[in-house]
Amino acid sequence: MGKQRVLSGVQPTGNYHLGNYLGAIRNWVEGQSEYDNYLFVADLHAITLPHDPKQLANNTYTLVGLYLACGLDLNHSTIFVQSHVSAHSELTWLFNCITPLNWLEDMIQFKEKAVKQGENVNVGLLDYPVLMAADILLYQADKVPVGEDQKQHLELTRDIAARLNHQFGKPDQPVLKLPDPLIRKEGARVMSLADGTRKMSKSDPSELSRINLLDSPDQIQYKIKRCKTDPIRGLTFDDPERPECNNLLALYMLLSGKPKQAVAAECQDMGWGQFKPLLTETTIHALKPIQEKYQEVMEDKGYLESVLRDGREKAQAIANQTLTQVKAALGFSIL
Ligand code: TYM
Repeated sequence: MGKQRVLSGVQPTGNYHLGNYLGAIRNWVEGQSEYDNYLFVADLHAITLPHDPKQLANNTYTLVGLYLACGLDLNHSTIFVQSHVSAHSELTWLFNCITPLNWLEDMIQFKEKAVKQGENVNVGLLDYPVLMAADILLYQADKVPVGEDQKQHLELTRDIAARLNHQFGKPDQPVLKLPDPLIRKEGARVMSLADGTRKMSKSDPSELSRINLLDSPDQIQYKIKRCKTDPIRGLTFDDPERPECNNLLALYMLLSGKPKQAVAAECQDMGWGQFKPLLTETTIHALKPIQEKYQEVMEDKGYLESVLRDGREKAQAIANQTLTQVKAALGFSIL
């Protein structure tokens, strides 16, 4: 039996942060030799909120550079750009015609983003989870490694696949494979540095709320110095009254690679004045190799383009096959 297939992506909206890394990219890298991986830049998703056309392509290249710098290995992983494979848009239309509107109106992220957007909410923002379902189901993915915030979108993806299989497949021959989310407990929800009850997010207007993967040591130090804490001495995990404390300890644990118990013991008597420099040093140390590799890969744009050309070819081959199967099941004439 061949390897199971993994599919996942990040939107190229800039500000790639520790949440993206610890909740998603790091897990893709760690598991990559066990799977056949398809990892993409979700640029079609990035235009569902107002965007700057001058930045979109740059943000895409930065993200591809980060994928490589974080350790994606082309022997195991195919890296591509969503908009280079037109089957994503085409399958979205087919799915649109079988997806009930109220499924989309129930999506938490839609509701949150729509409130922030005010009156001019575009159809793309509502349709976003359908595009995401197309991304995943085109590749007949077995596993989708993501952070906690994407869980509801993955449930919707499974519902769309099940509905299409039920309406248009044969009972013994499903058209689409139902994927499983892969959400690691640790790191699945990295919280904002400014408020331990809100997740760290690319779109937070405050730079101080997140640590970006490309932040300089000075920026990291400044952000950790300014981050929200509490007046209690002695640091503990999992105290619901101390969300910031839990988040910062979890960051230290994940970035140092130390087990939870060891971190709990090490920090139980610490005050913030002692812990913050430790977290700063650990963060700078963990990001340094990524930043160095990033500088190296970004020097050769021709190389990045060749990675994406190869990626497009491999991705298209699989995506077009699934698209044809879905069109055939829906009754379209196939030439
Ligand atoms: P995006 O770009 O918002 O985030 C990329 C990945 O990072 C995870 N993540 C977090 N994990 C932990 N803590 C956080 N604070 C945090 N913030 C973000 C996200 O869960 C995600 O795994 N819709 C997706 C992109 C996408 C996609 C897909 C993903 C489009 N099509 C198909 C998987 C499969 C998104 O906006 O992710």
